[in-house]
Amino acid sequence: MRVLVTGGAGFIGSRFVRQLEARGADKILIYDNLHPQVHGKDAIPPTFGPKVEFVNADIRDATQLKAIVANFAPTAVAHLVSETGTGQSYDEISRYVEVNVSGTAYLLEAIRALPRQLDWFLLTSSRAVYGEGAYVDSTGQHVSQARRFGTDMSAGRFQVYGRDGSALTEVPSASVTTQPDPLSIYASTKLMQENLVDNALSLTSTRLLVYRFQNVYGAGQSLINPYTGVLSIFIARLLNGLPIAIFEDGEISRDFVYVDDVVEAMMLGAMSAVVPRRPMDVGAAVSTRIYDAAVTLAKLAGKHDFAPSISGEFRPGDIRHAMADISYTHSLLDWSPKISFEEGARRLFTWAAESIKK
Ligand SMILES: NC(=O)c1ccc[n+]([C@@H]2O[C@H](COP(=O)([O-])OP(=O)(O)OC[C@H]3O[C@@H](n4cnc5c(N)ncnc54)[C@H](O)[C@@H]3O)[C@@H](O)[C@H]2O)c1
Repeated sequence: MRVLVTGGAGFIGSRFVRQLEARGADKILIYDNLHPQVHGKDAIPPTFGPKVEFVNADIRDATQLKAIVANFAPTAVAHLVSETGTGQSYDEISRYVEVNVSGTAYLLEAIRALPRQLDWFLLTSSRAVYGEGAYVDSTGQHVSQARRFGTDMSAGRFQVYGRDGSALTEVPSASVTTQPDPLSIYASTKLMQENLVDNALSLTSTRLLVYRFQNVYGAGQSLINPYTGVLSIFIARLLNGLPIAIFEDGEISRDFVYVDDVVEAMMLGAMSAVVPRRPMDVGAAVSTRIYDAAVTLAKLAGKHDFAPSISGEFRPGDIRHAMADISYTHSLLDWSPKISFEEGARRLFTWAAESIKK
């Protein structure tokens, strides 16, 4: 097994590479430009064992990418390179499209030029493709592609409302039941990645492993990227004695899934023979209010009386609730998340506090 891992120096990618190393890959090539927004200036790549080679290169450099893919001759590819900030994606639309969409296109062209078809191709997509996600109305009818409007939000009406004006109730989202409805530039680029991969490879013998991750968190996530990772942003603020303000009315919720659980789902797909027909949802399948997450982290920081403030403000691209229905992923991979939010938050906090001290 010769695996090309784009974005293999990143938070999820580096964990995945370590598992590939430990569980049977013969050779791994990481293709990553050590993006300064994620890794800081003058970053050095993470250290791996002798099976792993690292190339510092940009996914947008189609010529170099093609030459490196041809020379390495992978038998499998995991594509993780991405610009990842929802809010930032509105201000840097062309960069997000170049890296996420054109980058994927260049990679697929390089792969299609190989003399042998890949065993598997893994894409790390996002639950962002669902937009607001799945809801039911007061009669129990399933509603997807629900929207929130600036006019409601400016008036402090932050819930998701149905056509009759009554608030809808959130239910877990899954590729099997929920229509995509990307509501940010980032989300649109992730859906486009999925479409390109499907179009370019679904009629080959390559197994396509497309994952839609919820909020992945854990030790090793970037502590300097201001555009992603709400929990690490909170920890940095807590440790620096800064206040935390929660957007909207404090009721926003997310499905936080620990990175080791995510990487296990990736490994199970890669190492098995499953041929998924749809993207696989990966989350803890637990809804956590952002407010409660902040309080949990504050307690870990020894601030037992800490209460975040509620800002009443809202941001473009922020959706109200997110939670995965993981039954399809479980049925395919026999995978279930194992790490509770309390345990994962403790691990992240301990690691982040140590790293910030250094
Ligand atoms: N972390 C999450 O909560 C989450 C949720 C859903 C989906 N995902 C997806 O998972 C994947 C990995 O996310 P992550 O959290 O590990 O992010 P990350 O930022 O830690 O990793 C991305 C890696 O890609 C590299 N990179 C960025 N632009 C590049 C370019 N132009 N050329 C070459 N390399 C480049 C970065 O240096 C970094 O090492 C992404 O595709 C992301 O969209 C992550």
